[in-house]
Amino acid sequence: MSKPPQSDEVSCEEFPIEAQNPHKGVVAKVTIARPDKLNALNSGVSQALKEVCNWVTDNDDVRVIVFAGAPPNPPAEGKRPKPNAFIAGADISEFVGIDSDTIRQRFKGNIWEAIWHLDKPTIAMVDGFALGGGCEVAMSCDIRIGSERARFGTPEINLGLIPGGGGTQRLPRLVGYGRAMEMILSGEMVDAHSALQMGLLNHLYEVDELEQKTLELAKKIGSKSPHALKVAKSSVRAALEKPMSQGLEEEAIAFAGLFDSEDKEIGVKAFLERSEAEWVGR
Ligand code: COA
Repeated sequence: MSKPPQSDEVSCEEFPIEAQNPHKGVVAKVTIARPDKLNALNSGVSQALKEVCNWVTDNDDVRVIVFAGAPPNPPAEGKRPKPNAFIAGADISEFVGIDSDTIRQRFKGNIWEAIWHLDKPTIAMVDGFALGGGCEVAMSCDIRIGSERARFGTPEINLGLIPGGGGTQRLPRLVGYGRAMEMILSGEMVDAHSALQMGLLNHLYEVDELEQKTLELAKKIGSKSPHALKVAKSSVRAALEKPMSQGLEEEAIAFAGLFDSEDKEIGVKAFLERSEAEWVGR
């Protein structure tokens, strides 16, 4: 497997799904690391994230991707500590003085779409602020797991803006129209418990448990047939993007198609023999 792209601001760590057996693939944990700016997405981070998305797509060994924000650095002498963040949004300093042509160009092929279109399962591990573009990165993932420190918000309205990384579309689909409207129109944040209750978080853990629990779920998902995972992800996506009758047709085609896959024979046989499936991913 080729080495993941690394930069000062985006790193990628690999966690074997089964410690004893490297052939079972890895969970890739991608960390956005600009903690002094609460991991805000500037052009450099966005470019590095796109490169990581290409790498995980091209590497069959990567089964699941976890996105996280780096913890704060120790505070400089006499300074107050910075808070924990997943990502506190797009880097606002890059918005000064730019016009619509520039932002259209900058948002073309953006990072939220790159993450959304990954065909492998994705998890956002949220330990702190997930605001604006950061909330949108979390929503571009399939699953969100947070700590007690997680706080979500779409504060763009405070800048005279609206969410531009898919927030107006993904938020109502996750939490419902009324709650999404309230968040987007008021710019108010919601805490981790509210996020859990409204369906923005799948799970909420104590800070100390967050990474272990997230990796446990990622490894569990990553131990399934990589081929069936891709088919499952694209079939569930149809529920968001298509009328139900069409989604049902697509599910029927996808389900039947899996009966020609090697992994289906492997999975069914392993169940009947009470052995462990050795997936081949096709
Ligand atoms: N873009 C650029 N810089 C950001 C940022 C962003 N989205 N969010 C935080 N930062 C920077 C701050 O400017 C500050 O930098 P400095 O220490 O060099 O001055 C640093 O991160 C720490 O943030 P600070 O505001 O001092 O922390 P806080 O604890 O007082 O407040 C927040 C935390 C998250 C409430 C506050 O930073 C905030 O509102 N951020 C903007 C969120 C936002 O509007 N996101 C949507 C953008 S479209």
